Amino acid sequence: MKIRGFFEDVSGAGKIVKDRESRIQNGSPTPETKDPIRTLADQLHPGPKNYTVASVRQSSPSSKTYRFVPQDGHVPVFHAGQYASFRFHIGDSNLTRAYSISSAPFEARGEDPFFEITVKNGPGMFVPEYLDKNLEEGDTVEVDLPFSQFYYEPLRDSKNIVGLAGGSGITPFASMAKEIAAGKLDVDLTILYGSRDHTDICMKDDLEKAAECDKVHVVHIMSDDPEWEGEKGFLSREIIEKYSKPDTTYMFCGPLVMLNFVQKALNEMGVPPYRFRHDASAQPRNVKMIPGFPEENIGKKYQITVVRGIQEDVIPAVGEEPVAVALERAGIKVDTHCRAGECGFCRSQLISGDIFVSPLGDGRREMDKEMNWFHACSAYPISNLKIKIPIQ
Ligand code: FES
Repeated sequence: MKIRGFFEDVSGAGKIVKDRESRIQNGSPTPETKDPIRTLADQLHPGPKNYTVASVRQSSPSSKTYRFVPQDGHVPVFHAGQYASFRFHIGDSNLTRAYSISSAPFEARGEDPFFEITVKNGPGMFVPEYLDKNLEEGDTVEVDLPFSQFYYEPLRDSKNIVGLAGGSGITPFASMAKEIAAGKLDVDLTILYGSRDHTDICMKDDLEKAAECDKVHVVHIMSDDPEWEGEKGFLSREIIEKYSKPDTTYMFCGPLVMLNFVQKALNEMGVPPYRFRHDASAQPRNVKMIPGFPEENIGKKYQITVVRGIQEDVIPAVGEEPVAVALERAGIKVDTHCRAGECGFCRSQLISGDIFVSPLGDGRREMDKEMNWFHACSAYPISNLKIKIPIQ
């Protein structure tokens, strides 16, 4: 930019107005229908699309890997570590669930593009159980991707990454490991992966294959496996320090209890906050784990009046389930992605009544709080409510 002096520069701004007016005068009366920026944006963020289940395979005794191929031939560009948001219609409920992509980005860019998720199943896990029993080769699913900031960013992160994973939290690191092994991502990744016992290891074969390259290292830590000859116990400060290099970026994905543990260990190690990132953790099913949750609210029944445009519906809710779950159970579409209070897709407005907002997922801005906006995935009713949600 050329600076010519205060008055010259200020008077120069006046020429922009004249130039604009002359362009308007000389412009074509035919509207311009091409919008290359919109076209590019649509290609990068196409919104929900249909994918076909190409295969289902067991990736541990308790988890399955589902492969999806795009029905229009394209998988949107994503980074290793990001997640996909699935829409399911189960019974009378409309549900959205987020799963980290466990395949590598390069696999979505080949001649036969695909992406995969790996889902751990267990007692009382509603959607994983449904997928385990019902999702088969040839089925169609509606998926929106990609989401989240949980990926390696060279401007922000060190090239030494330590991935701290628990249970199905291995999936974003498996994606990174495969991308590195294929020579598509230039970082050193050490994965410290906590499992209960060796039969519980998820994506074992994929991890072993990726670890054949010298930039990926996988260390398994068993919490309850007397036969195991490697690291035992929990992801402790000692183990993290043992496998860390100077100037490391730590990335965590796993259950909330483990996150608290890891956060404490990293604080004690003096790791600066900008060197630690964690994936969004959904609200724990056991609400007693949420600090400050009013336990007398457990088991209480409420009614929520839901306003969508001119339509009003009254739906039942219970004190120990987030408002988003009550909406989904009632078959009302609510746009959720992270289910951790962070992304803001489920933003709703409280017209009357009281809610408890989980401090583990309170992503509201100050202005949201003043205007009574809340995130339905991390807010619990503590009285009858009247709320306003966007029309889907
Ligand atoms: S789904 Fe992301 S904030 Fe609720």
